[in-house]
Amino acid sequence: MTENRDCAETDVCPSTDPLFREFSVRSLHLRNRIVMSPMTRTHSPGGVPGDKVARYYRRRAEGGTGLIITEGVAIDHPASVDHARVPNMFASTALDGWRSVVDGVHEAGGRIIPQLWHVGPLWGAMGGSPAITPMRPSGLWGTPGITTYSDEYVKASEPVTRAMTTADIKSVISAFRAAARSAVNAGFDGIALHGGHGYLLDAFLWADTNRRTDEWGGDAERRAAFPAAVVRAIREEIGEDLPIFFRFSQHKQQDFGARLADTPEELRALLRPLVAAGVDVLDASARRFQAPAFEGSDLSLAGWAKQLTGAPAMAVGSVGIGSAIKDRRSSGNPVLDNREELLRRLDTEEFDLIAIGRLHLADPDLVQTLRAGRPLPHYDYVLHESDLV
Ligand SMILES: Cc1cc2nc3c(=O)[nH]c(=O)nc-3n(C[C@H](O)[C@H](O)[C@H](O)COP(=O)(O)O)c2cc1C
Repeated sequence: MTENRDCAETDVCPSTDPLFREFSVRSLHLRNRIVMSPMTRTHSPGGVPGDKVARYYRRRAEGGTGLIITEGVAIDHPASVDHARVPNMFASTALDGWRSVVDGVHEAGGRIIPQLWHVGPLWGAMGGSPAITPMRPSGLWGTPGITTYSDEYVKASEPVTRAMTTADIKSVISAFRAAARSAVNAGFDGIALHGGHGYLLDAFLWADTNRRTDEWGGDAERRAAFPAAVVRAIREEIGEDLPIFFRFSQHKQQDFGARLADTPEELRALLRPLVAAGVDVLDASARRFQAPAFEGSDLSLAGWAKQLTGAPAMAVGSVGIGSAIKDRRSSGNPVLDNREELLRRLDTEEFDLIAIGRLHLADPDLVQTLRAGRPLPHYDYVLHESDLV
């Protein structure tokens, strides 16, 4: 990376560096291409993001991060998120908390959107009550494979539960819509949806967990019908002004080796209905941003998403780190300087934005570090994930 010290202290310096080109989608204008990836931190007791959470996000905005996507946020549905310290987007105290978070980020010149989350089949993974029926498209948890979950939890999740009814589907769509309205009222700059990693929206996209034969299941396009209905409801609710980001992934919490789409054609059939419904940015969640998504091409998952749909795409995964997310607790998480590769792919517009997770925990001034071409920070699981700083 080139030294650019004149620009290190300011965000107004015009730069040709592909990371520091501005980016706009609908009314959202970003000062650079660097996004803080959504990270669940469980520091919001009773679902309320307090001062500590506000300071944490504000700190990254002060550091120059272009866009912050919050940790997953619960929507108002009984089986939405199974952890009492995950923030929600419905209680009035939580909404007051979010207003402070948003104001702080805006004052620091940043932009912020919440990641709306329903865990679907994975209810119980963080400790939810077994008395609550998980929302599963066909009653299935998913075929277990390479996972960080305990054998005990995987075993307890195996029994088939009730498939979601039409009433369940409607109530979840309404809850997403209401959460989007609350988020806009709190001042957020857009909406992000968690449609990856095996959670509810992904469980409809994934053939392994969606065996439905009604309008919500079938071939790839039909499996996209429920997430697309959620997107349409949100678009209808929030209007045309603000962007909607949608995260999807090949890998699942149930099996890091799983694949959502075996071919580009299948991926196109899954993603196009989402874009047609109102998604503006496809957030292609991968463990390594540069990993080829399909044989015969070095195009990344984000690159394919953009090429197949024409929509802007965001890549993510192991920027600056030699260990993928699933191994972060056990590996030493060595620094891996893959900046040249990132810059090359951004410069050729293979994708438009780069989300960075763990390095944002290790260094709140990450953007300045990147701008100045300084050595990358070393992410340490114990040091950087124990507390919210
Ligand atoms: C502590 C932690 C919590 C995470 N929580 C979420 C989450 O709530 N929603 C989500 O979509 N991804 C979540 N992720 C995944 C990150 O958004 C990101 O995709 C992943 O860490 C890979 O990026 P990185 O290699 O830059 O860390 C989490 C990651 C970490 C490290």
